[in-house]
Amino acid sequence: MLTVTHITLNYADELSGVDKLPIVGWQYTSDKTGVVQTDRSIQIASDPDFKTVIFDSGWQQRTLCNDNLPEQLALHPSQRYYVRVRLRDSHQQVSEWSRAACFITGVMGNWQGEFISAETPADSANSAGSRLRRAFSVNKKKTVHSAFVHATAMGLYQLWLNGKRVGEDELTPGWTSYRHHLLYQTYDITDLLQPEHNMLGAELGAGWFKGDMGFVRHRNIYGEQTGLLCQLVIHYDDGEQVTIGSDRQWQAGHSPILFSEIYDGERYDATLDDEKWCQWSGSTTAWRDALPVAWNKKAVTAQGAGTVRESERLKPVSVFVTPEGDTVLDFGQIISGWVEFRVQGNAGDKVVLRHFEVLDHDGNVYLDNLRTAQQCIEYTLRGGEEEIWRPHFTFQGFRYVKVEQWPGEITAAALSAIVLHSQMAAGGTFSCSHPGLNQLYQNILWGLKGNFIDVPTDCPQRDERLGWTGDAQIFCRTATYMMNVRNFFSKWLVDLACDQTPEGGVPHVIPDIITGKYDDNWLLSQGTHSAAAWADAAVVIPWTLYLMYGDKITLARQYDSMCAWVNFMQTHSDNHIWNYKLQFGDWVALDAEEGSYFGATPNELTCTAWYAYSTLLLAKSAQALGKVADAEKWYSLYDEILTAFRKAFFTPEGNLTAKTQTAHILALTFNLVPDVWRQQTIDTLLSLLDEHDGHLVTGFVGTPLFCHALSENGHPHEAWSLLLKDTFPSWLYQVNAGATTIWEHWDGLKPDGSMWSADMNSFNHYAYGAVGEWIWRVAAGIEADENAPGFEHVIIRPRPDARIQWLKATYPSVLGDISVHWQIASKNEVTLNFSIPAASRATVMLPDANDIIDSGGLMFNRIAECWQAQTGAGEYSIVFQLK
Ligand code: BGC
Repeated sequence: MLTVTHITLNYADELSGVDKLPIVGWQYTSDKTGVVQTDRSIQIASDPDFKTVIFDSGWQQRTLCNDNLPEQLALHPSQRYYVRVRLRDSHQQVSEWSRAACFITGVMGNWQGEFISAETPADSANSAGSRLRRAFSVNKKKTVHSAFVHATAMGLYQLWLNGKRVGEDELTPGWTSYRHHLLYQTYDITDLLQPEHNMLGAELGAGWFKGDMGFVRHRNIYGEQTGLLCQLVIHYDDGEQVTIGSDRQWQAGHSPILFSEIYDGERYDATLDDEKWCQWSGSTTAWRDALPVAWNKKAVTAQGAGTVRESERLKPVSVFVTPEGDTVLDFGQIISGWVEFRVQGNAGDKVVLRHFEVLDHDGNVYLDNLRTAQQCIEYTLRGGEEEIWRPHFTFQGFRYVKVEQWPGEITAAALSAIVLHSQMAAGGTFSCSHPGLNQLYQNILWGLKGNFIDVPTDCPQRDERLGWTGDAQIFCRTATYMMNVRNFFSKWLVDLACDQTPEGGVPHVIPDIITGKYDDNWLLSQGTHSAAAWADAAVVIPWTLYLMYGDKITLARQYDSMCAWVNFMQTHSDNHIWNYKLQFGDWVALDAEEGSYFGATPNELTCTAWYAYSTLLLAKSAQALGKVADAEKWYSLYDEILTAFRKAFFTPEGNLTAKTQTAHILALTFNLVPDVWRQQTIDTLLSLLDEHDGHLVTGFVGTPLFCHALSENGHPHEAWSLLLKDTFPSWLYQVNAGATTIWEHWDGLKPDGSMWSADMNSFNHYAYGAVGEWIWRVAAGIEADENAPGFEHVIIRPRPDARIQWLKATYPSVLGDISVHWQIASKNEVTLNFSIPAASRATVMLPDANDIIDSGGLMFNRIAECWQAQTGAGEYSIVFQLK
């Protein structure tokens, strides 16, 4: 039987608020082997039972598992639509219709209201909340068919209808390059409407828009007042449609949120709260007219999917008193989010909680690495009944909470830590026989969760939390395995393109809030854009989304931005050797001079290596997009850069001029080393590793590629040794030191218990978690093929090592689950079980196999000293002997 098992719209299960027809994707299974889809049929209807079909593709010959729907199909704004798919296969079997996935259309450019505000420019220094509301009536003689609300804000907003929260999203509308790209969200409010009298309300906060942001702290980066743009649409059964926009009929009022800032936390006075503020029956005193506030409505775009939400809750694992006498709650895990608590007391009693990541050497509260971020919440009780509260327009990076005030005795049961991050479909699962490696994997995953709050941040705790391009680029491939991050990164890439300089330079952080703001900063006064390995995010990330998810849409959309970046490097290079203003180089490498952040690898080498690599990826992208002439141009530029690199950075004897681990790693992994010198390059890298007793001393540039440089150049054993090293500095050293996320510095916490200077010491920085990519691609061996992206063709190429008895990994690719399970028996016999989803085919490659003991029915050939076999979909089990 042929079955459609999964259907997605724009890579998500459901979409709420789209201005364009989404991409439909699906997965299928069959109980027969060797089945492939030959035809597909798609229908779109305006009802869940498909009585009113507005589009029927009929059977069309298609083998791909995703499709763009016809552009010319006219959709109506603020409507719900349903999509379903049916397939025919090579055995002439026809599937049932898939489940109906649904999407709600957005405003589609028809905003009827204006941005309105409860603030004036005089509030520019104010980080208090404010409220807006609008009473409206529903015609009680009619039946409401459906009702939707669309909203966005200058600042952050939460919507309420008749005293109830609308939707489950947090920190909306998220953080984008607001002037060019401001997202709005869409909610179905049919069930929240009352028969006649209704009150729609919005709570607003400063957020990223006008709050105090960045490490030198600037406020009002985008504007001085918060504002709301909102549109409510009611459809009656008789076809009548009523639209209410944000207009002069809205009222403005105060909020009990006295202060709320992304870094600093929130102050809330419940004694000032009017519980009926968003109800028809509420008081009308103390409300004034809302005022219009100017903002570019052309920048307002539908989000569709991927908003920030609560994803899980943790209870404290302990409550204890530190040697200095502070009461501290330990949630057992560094997370990003906030604390929700239940409390009872008298009016005016206070709860004051301060959030932090680690205890110091003596077991006391350690706040220094937060720099100026306060991470403090203060709640004033209404008094009487039990009160439940959580913050609104802030988030904290923390494992511990210091209780500065609490009425009465605090109990662990009264508090929960709420984990927040952007919604992403679940990614892979991994486990193996090595507990330390399993913990490392979990730490990487928590690093992802904690730093994917709407933008990919460097860290979620100190006064930074910025979309540092380098960190995002380094970690992107790892992230694509661990969660479905297609929509998350695709959104952020829009902002990257918006914020590029006219010349194509790429700011260090996206959204760019540093250009023009940090002339007085010792580091950034040298330049705020275009650093090698950072700015290359412009090329690497669209390419990675294409490779891992088959996402040509983002690749095509970003193509101009990618070209602009490569052109920028070309313009600023001298005979193809590139360098430019401020470079971070091999950031925080241990071969830096004492106290410096800058590793020892010369900038020109790092810059030119990355120039070559990005140009190559751009050439491949042009080819994938069918831009033949462009591809040729970029390939020939790449050849010229390669020649220049070899001339400039290798001696005539074939030695790299820079004797650093990172220089060798770059030359090997980016294929910059001529074949004749490859062996001596890898030999030198091994000796540079030996010099440090097998430890890495690399930073942001070298670390993510180190294990690849070894395993792809004949040294998988050494790659495993590096991964499994557990003395300082190493990934497992951190694990053994009790880390629950990934640290910014190898020496964040030194073996003697002292810490790297507090000015830069995050304990939740995903960058070094980029080794996750090696775990997936090499240890588990689930590898994408750039000639058949999106895992249409899978390369199964695990590199088992005798120090690990077994390893299991399942990756939910866009075409279905790919899993690998290998285990090593005593005689170095490896049993490899793997499965390939229906729409994929695979090549199994066993570079470490001496002999195939049981081929599991596959035809193995030995090609270039590597046993290989081709397979279609299915489950396989083979046995081979390790070399
Ligand atoms: C961030 C990094 C970032 C770097 C740039 C730091 O402050 O936390 O992760 O990439 O600056 O060098």
